[in-house]
Amino acid sequence: MEEKILIGKRIHAYEATDSTMDVAHRLAATGEPEGSVVVAEGQARGRGRLGRSWLSPKGKGIYASVILRPSLRLSEAPLVTLMAAVAAARAVHGETGLAPEIKWPNDLLIGGKKVAGILTELNAELNRIHYIVLGIGINVNTGKRQLPARATSLAEELGSRVDRARLARRLFTELDQAYGQFLNRGIEPILEAWRGFAAFLGRRIRVAAQGRVVDGQAVDIDSTGALLVRTDAGMVEAVSAGEVLVVR
Ligand code: BTN
Repeated sequence: MEEKILIGKRIHAYEATDSTMDVAHRLAATGEPEGSVVVAEGQARGRGRLGRSWLSPKGKGIYASVILRPSLRLSEAPLVTLMAAVAAARAVHGETGLAPEIKWPNDLLIGGKKVAGILTELNAELNRIHYIVLGIGINVNTGKRQLPARATSLAEELGSRVDRARLARRLFTELDQAYGQFLNRGIEPILEAWRGFAAFLGRRIRVAAQGRVVDGQAVDIDSTGALLVRTDAGMVEAVSAGEVLVVR
């Protein structure tokens, strides 16, 4: 039986671009099919979550944006990000043998340092998602001096270079499988895998979430992708967007 591949079936490859996110948005707005990927060797203005930039030196990392058109409610969009984190963690582990951890919601860490990040941008109206651009950046062969503070690369951790093309192929295969599983079987299998990679579950954390700070023990994630935190007052709070600041 012929395998039906969606993600990575079409790949638009660039030597350099400002951001693969912008290229993917332009393509998506003009009817590019679901699953198409934009990759670049380097980005002049790579961007991250929360208005941050994403350093993208040429020929060193994987910088990719994937166009998705899922029939999901707007509130379900964060699940796509969790799905991508699981796929990226599986690809990194499968290709390098390293043990990445996921920091909620979707940073990949090795030894507590960030090695990859995921940025989900939506084009939506009311409760309808037109399309999602899923951006993934992995520091692959990036040298120490080109990395931001508290970041690492796969090569730094391994002590040897990693084949970026192989890793990119693995990433798209894992994404394809995880996305198919999510659409066919729902989020539970993905959440189970996410928990297996999750850093911080059971530990004391501080989360900055929408203008407030929540201190407590990270207990789990729920079926909406929210982080459940047991506060010192004994209540369990669901934090649906934010950033983990401190872990003790
Ligand atoms: C984060 O951790 O803040 C998310 C980083 C996402 C970076 C990737 S690299 C490919 C794509 N293009 C961008 O400009 N950003 C994403």
